[in-house]
Amino acid sequence: MDDRIISGETTDFDLGFEQSLRPQLLQQYIGQTQVKDNLSIFIEAARGRSESLDHVLLYGPPGLGKTTLASVIANEMNVNLRTTSGPAIERPGDLAAVVSSLEPGDVLFIDEIHRLNRAIEEVLYPAMEDFCLDIVVGKGPEARSIRLDLPPFTLIGATTRAGSLSAPLRDRFGVPLRLEYYEIEPLTEIVIRSASVFEVDIEHDAAVELARRSRGTPRIANRLLRRVRDYAQVRGDGKVTLDTAQEALEMLQVDSHGLDHIDHKLITSMIEQFRGGPVGIDTIAATIGEESVTIEDVYEPYLLQIGFLQRTPRGRVVTHQAYEHFDYPVPDMPRN
Ligand SMILES: Nc1ncnc2c1ncn2[C@@H]1O[C@H](COP(=O)(O)OP(=O)(O)O)[C@@H](O)[C@H]1O
Ligand SMILES: [Mg+2]
Repeated sequence: MDDRIISGETTDFDLGFEQSLRPQLLQQYIGQTQVKDNLSIFIEAARGRSESLDHVLLYGPPGLGKTTLASVIANEMNVNLRTTSGPAIERPGDLAAVVSSLEPGDVLFIDEIHRLNRAIEEVLYPAMEDFCLDIVVGKGPEARSIRLDLPPFTLIGATTRAGSLSAPLRDRFGVPLRLEYYEIEPLTEIVIRSASVFEVDIEHDAAVELARRSRGTPRIANRLLRRVRDYAQVRGDGKVTLDTAQEALEMLQVDSHGLDHIDHKLITSMIEQFRGGPVGIDTIAATIGEESVTIEDVYEPYLLQIGFLQRTPRGRVVTHQAYEHFDYPVPDMPRN
């Protein structure tokens, strides 16, 4: 799944580039207006009181800017950022080691926070609420619990699956923020900004075309930009025109809506084998040979977003728009 050019997930190939493309401040963070408006108020208020910012939960599909936003928040608060992830914290001691090294006001960023195990969550609750840790030291009859005071800090949790977070953990975040897929306009702006960082000469039309095919996702936009740049360099004079962008994207098999062969397979098999549904997610998964969770987390959200799929209590349904896009005769069914 990760070798898809239009996957929202990070690939090894992205790593170095992403760092160079990350905006540092809220003002440079493009789009997500509502999230930014909310955050800037909370940040200003916390700074005005010289307090740490309330704990923030960032959720939404991969590649929309959660990790970036965490570092922007730390920059805006003028504090250090410590980064870890749910799967990396295996034992309570791992968590204790990280939080006890924080300075007052610091941001602790826990990526994939839905993957924290329950034992760690238990340790996290008092840390979030009262800035203290209850640690058991020793074994057997010698065992005793000691309480460690922590400096006030801000926990920023990021997750692609807010639904998998336990309710008590979710409730301890004062500021839950949901990132949305980007509209074409802010995404175009991101492409233009990235092009200037990469020193790529790109026509405005070409930037819009890239934005259109990037599934509302900055990570994908940046990735497509790099591939299109390579194409323009080898096949042309290096300048990214609308023509070169379209040719390159065609070669990469990313269609006008940013869909690739897997989306194609998913939709067409629903049409051909299940008359467009409703079909259960597990049945779809088995039919196209993918995991159900992968479909739910990675493929389906964007297809729902652009109105190609609908979720019903009896399963997923292909919409008229999708029939038209994939050149199938639209069946006789009520308009959705
Ligand atoms: N609002 C934004 N403005 C500019 N670039 C962005 C924005 N959001 C994300 N990006 C870029 O997209 C890439 C992926 O963002 P990231 O924060 O790693 O996403 P996530 O953590 O949600 O998977 C990064 O290279 C980042 O610079
Ligand atoms: Mg991330």
